[in-house]
Amino acid sequence: MDPIANPDLLIQQLKALIANPEVFSTQGTEIIQLSRQAAVALEGPFETFQRLAYSALPLVSARVAQEHNIFQTLVENKDEPTSVAVLAEKTNINPVVLDILLDYLSTQFMVEEVSPQHYKATKLSNILVAPLFIDGVLHFHDNCLPAFNALNYSLAHPTDPRTPFEIGHDSPVDFYTYLESHPIQGAAFHRFMEAQFASLPTWLDVLPFDSEYAASTTPETPTFVDVGGGNGQQCVALQKKYPALQGRIILQDRPAILEKAITPDSVERMPYDYLVEQPVKGARAYYFRQIFHNNNDETCHLILAAHLPALSPSSVILIDDKVLPDAKPATGSVEYTAGLSLAMKAMFNALERREGQWRTLLADAGLEIREIRRYTDFGDSIIVAGRKA
Ligand SMILES: C[S@@+](CC[C@H](N)C(=O)[O-])C[C@H]1O[C@@H](n2cnc3c(N)ncnc32)[C@H](O)[C@@H]1O
Repeated sequence: MDPIANPDLLIQQLKALIANPEVFSTQGTEIIQLSRQAAVALEGPFETFQRLAYSALPLVSARVAQEHNIFQTLVENKDEPTSVAVLAEKTNINPVVLDILLDYLSTQFMVEEVSPQHYKATKLSNILVAPLFIDGVLHFHDNCLPAFNALNYSLAHPTDPRTPFEIGHDSPVDFYTYLESHPIQGAAFHRFMEAQFASLPTWLDVLPFDSEYAASTTPETPTFVDVGGGNGQQCVALQKKYPALQGRIILQDRPAILEKAITPDSVERMPYDYLVEQPVKGARAYYFRQIFHNNNDETCHLILAAHLPALSPSSVILIDDKVLPDAKPATGSVEYTAGLSLAMKAMFNALERREGQWRTLLADAGLEIREIRRYTDFGDSIIVAGRKA
């Protein structure tokens, strides 16, 4: 029998949760999912429309608040409320406009109005002053939002070869080339990419690289080639994990990216366009982290074809990317990965692939998947592939 609905009890419980969320944290994910579903179930057409109509504003108002150090000022003042007049002086934003902005931010719990025209920091203000989230908000606002905006036009004009990113930014070049002439957005993107994964497990936690791929190597052996390796953080992580690893460790990317690499001299830096034939032959591993999810199947085939001539019988291709399950979870799709896949479409005309899509992609390129090792709950995985036997 269904439990009897008791709105008063529910309200009491929700208030208890807001006052002491830690008591509910063991079932936090389920409660968040259910409370969102409950809010949608309760809302009428007006609320539904408002939710959709203003959906860009939380990100936009957070970006404005960060740009003008509003959260920082409130956090520094701790429990002492700050007046709109003081904030107007510090931010140089017109007090009337600032009042509107703070009013909206308070509806999103990003600040709290404790008395008329006086605000203090909330849990969210404290989160949004962290460098990771300053960079993340800037990246999604400045780089992604115009691309999301162009998704509808792009899907309605399938013969337009441009990505939604290129349409939305009216950019003649792809996202990565665009970043080279937009240093603030570029630096924020690269820092965000690095920091968001810093506290998570990595492929090195599930793949014993030294014993499986670097046995009996010499100093001349090309042991690890990090293709499109960005600033080289994975080369550094590999060396840290295996300080005695023998052989060449090579970081490949565009010249402008290599200039900012963080690798020591023991890592070779090699400018390389992954669409042309791989010049390093017979390496033990060609490693691609977050490369394929930036590219459509056609370009992935070009990348793989550029690597086939380099593969020796003992070479493997390591793909470090999300592998989403073919069957959707019983609890429903996960918003984070579903949103990420749509973001890949908007930015690159690409996607986060499901396991079956990976198998088809690699088989069509003449490769076989030897194993897939997952290392996070969100499907982050290392795919080990080699030439078909
Ligand atoms: C999402 S980032 C991933 C960087 C790195 N693998 C990591 O996981 O931190 C994609 C990288 O691909 C590089 N890239 C894009 N197009 C490329 C190309 N044609 N040849 C080589 N690298 C390229 C970019 O410069 C960027 O560093």
